[in-house]
Amino acid sequence: MKSYQIDPDFLWGVATSANQVEGGWNEDGKGMSIADCLRYRPQLDVTNYKATNSISSRQVKEAMSDLSTKNWAKRHGVDFYHNYHEDIKQLAAMGISAFRFSISWARIFPNGDDQEPNQAGLDYYLDLVKEMNKYNIEPIMTLSHYEIPLNLVLNYDAWYDRRVIGFFDRFAKTVIDYLHDYVKYWIPINEIDSIIRHPFSSAGLIEDRFPNKNFKNVIYQAMHNQFVASARIIKYCHETYPDLKIGCMITSTMVYPYNSDPRNVLRATEIMRNVYAFSDIQIRGQYPKYLLKKLKEEDIKIEEKAEDADLIKRNTADFIAFSYYSSVCTAYDTRGLQVTKANRINGVYNKYLPESEWGWQIDPIGLRLSLIKLYDRYQKPLFIVENGLGASDVLTNDKKVHDDYRICYLRDHIHQMLISLVEDGIELIGYCVWGTTDMISASSNQISKRYGLIYVDLDDEGNGTYKRYRKDSYYWYKKLLSFGNKIPMSFFDEPLTHVNESAVS
Ligand code: BG6
Repeated sequence: MKSYQIDPDFLWGVATSANQVEGGWNEDGKGMSIADCLRYRPQLDVTNYKATNSISSRQVKEAMSDLSTKNWAKRHGVDFYHNYHEDIKQLAAMGISAFRFSISWARIFPNGDDQEPNQAGLDYYLDLVKEMNKYNIEPIMTLSHYEIPLNLVLNYDAWYDRRVIGFFDRFAKTVIDYLHDYVKYWIPINEIDSIIRHPFSSAGLIEDRFPNKNFKNVIYQAMHNQFVASARIIKYCHETYPDLKIGCMITSTMVYPYNSDPRNVLRATEIMRNVYAFSDIQIRGQYPKYLLKKLKEEDIKIEEKAEDADLIKRNTADFIAFSYYSSVCTAYDTRGLQVTKANRINGVYNKYLPESEWGWQIDPIGLRLSLIKLYDRYQKPLFIVENGLGASDVLTNDKKVHDDYRICYLRDHIHQMLISLVEDGIELIGYCVWGTTDMISASSNQISKRYGLIYVDLDDEGNGTYKRYRKDSYYWYKKLLSFGNKIPMSFFDEPLTHVNESAVS
């Protein structure tokens, strides 16, 4: 039987973030974070990525004066905070070898600028990683995934203020010192490039707090501070715990030319350079010339300290973690062309690809292209730490979820990844499905945009029992993992009817 043979150490996992699953938003000493201020807004068109990601100071005040969880989905999440033993047990039963998750900064330093950490928070994460280790699951830890403590926004303007680098340093070192025996893989900042797309959830920046400043300049300043903060953590780990691996993380969206008109090819290349700028800085250790030129042209001035350049140069990441969900097209002149509904970057609709209910175009070959392009550019190990499908699922009367569409998505992406591993000469540490249980969507604050392999009985208004039900995709992934490092090629041609509990349990 023909098979894809992969390295036995390859990490097969699942991924999530604290603010999207934990809940327990004000328990055991946790402070308020920006994620606790993000309201589910049913009146908004959820395919309008820009609108769902904007926030004002007035809305933050409203959030602070309402201590309920009803409208603030990330305050309750899916109650992973209390359910983690059971959730990890269920996920371990699938046969995963990695679990990517993030730590809530405000659980450790409730106000961000506290002198001492909250011991209850540290103990919570210690127990969490011990639980993973118990099942031989490698924890992949993200230190900052869309949830800076709110106090740092209100009193320091978040990542715009250089003092926040010091606060992050204290937080990160505290956590690393505490957990380094249990966690080998660390990612300082999730999708560092996302600050451009959603400056509030990514870096705590609220535009109306900077009335006399060019907000674009504010964003790039905060971004620079994040690069410095990451480099400091990489330095600390390399010097103190040389066995740890510290990655950078970017959003890998493939951008294709609308057609072979060289002007469109050039435009696509220019946009892809903007994607790579963020990994260039963290892997090559300097701002690429094309970015510096762009900043100059746009009159953006980053204030930096004399030592920053050297710090960034000397402390580059050990691996490149990336998320991949979709691709878009572009053209030098987009007038008259149909655009995709939910753009993370402005995109022209690609007639060759289907799209998700939320308007993200589905492109498995784009994942393979991401692997090739990133590896060719850097020759560093890669790690797919997010890939999955947000879709609305139906729980049937007999408590099943027949999510063939998600299985197709995962099957086709994983298939391309395996082909790439075997054919393209790349280095890949592992693959994590974005989705453990269902979780609250980062952009739309809905749970009905479901990503999980395990269904959670909860609706967008916060009603439900929080009970968990394994989806068909759970059993499909379990079957895939049961093959170990020799995966039959025929598995990717099998009809999906084989997916049911009895077939794999
Ligand atoms: C990634 C984020 O960009 O996309 C995740 O790191 C997020 O936090 C995922 O959940 C999917 O996006 P969304 O908005 O559909 O949840």
